[in-house]
Amino acid sequence: MTRIESDGSGNSQRATPAAGPNPPAGLKHPVSRRAFLKGAGGVAGAGMVGDLVAAQPGATPGPVRLAGKIQVELSINGQARKVEVEPRTTLLDALRVHLDPALTGTKLVCGMGSCGACTVFLDGQPIYSCLRLAVDCVGKQITTIEGLAGAGALTPVQEAFVDCDALMCGFCTPGLVMSVTACLNKNPSASLDEIRRATSGNTCRCGTYPFVFDAALAAGRRIQDERNALTPGGTNEGASGREKASSGAPGVKGGSPQ
Ligand code: FES
Ligand code: FES
Repeated sequence: MTRIESDGSGNSQRATPAAGPNPPAGLKHPVSRRAFLKGAGGVAGAGMVGDLVAAQPGATPGPVRLAGKIQVELSINGQARKVEVEPRTTLLDALRVHLDPALTGTKLVCGMGSCGACTVFLDGQPIYSCLRLAVDCVGKQITTIEGLAGAGALTPVQEAFVDCDALMCGFCTPGLVMSVTACLNKNPSASLDEIRRATSGNTCRCGTYPFVFDAALAAGRRIQDERNALTPGGTNEGASGREKASSGAPGVKGGSPQ
């Protein structure tokens, strides 16, 4: 049931929209998830509040407090999906718990923005979905691990993870695939160091990092090869560069993300 009412104070109490720093690159989270959700306390983000108020006939914009469940429409993997959530519901919980049918490929591990298992794309950028309110994602494009590839197909990154045996228990794998994909989307010829930085916000307790890095480099080579094949006179210099980076990277085996 939807209930929207003014808090009457004239002071805007808004959720912290910045509470979902984008991996990769050495994530530091000044606000814990507990503090973040406590601060959210049933008050939705400003943009969403504005949208909801605007949707009510005769309503005037201003600070509002949301309570109970509200129905929002999220664009997930190219589809409009309606879902009932509380204003404090994270995007991760919306995906895994409230959506029907649920999308459980995105994993909950730490729930506090430190492991990266919950990584999804928001407007193409990787984010921790455990640190983002679902209501703040209205109007944005959400891509989960289920939406990376077409039906019955795998992306080059997913194929490379399989080929390189880059997983054990698999809990970290969707998040790592998303982070590697984001990295290679920007630069298919990313070096080993760049891949390590891109996945530095993802933790694998099983220690599959060397295989993950191998998979990422292999996927980058494949993406480049495919692009070169489509480009008349294309070269494969990027792949060669990566191989040099890979072969000249002692100490990667058994290491952890930077
Ligand atoms: S579950 Fe979101 S970062 Fe660990
Ligand atoms: S494969 Fe088990 S946590 Fe990474």
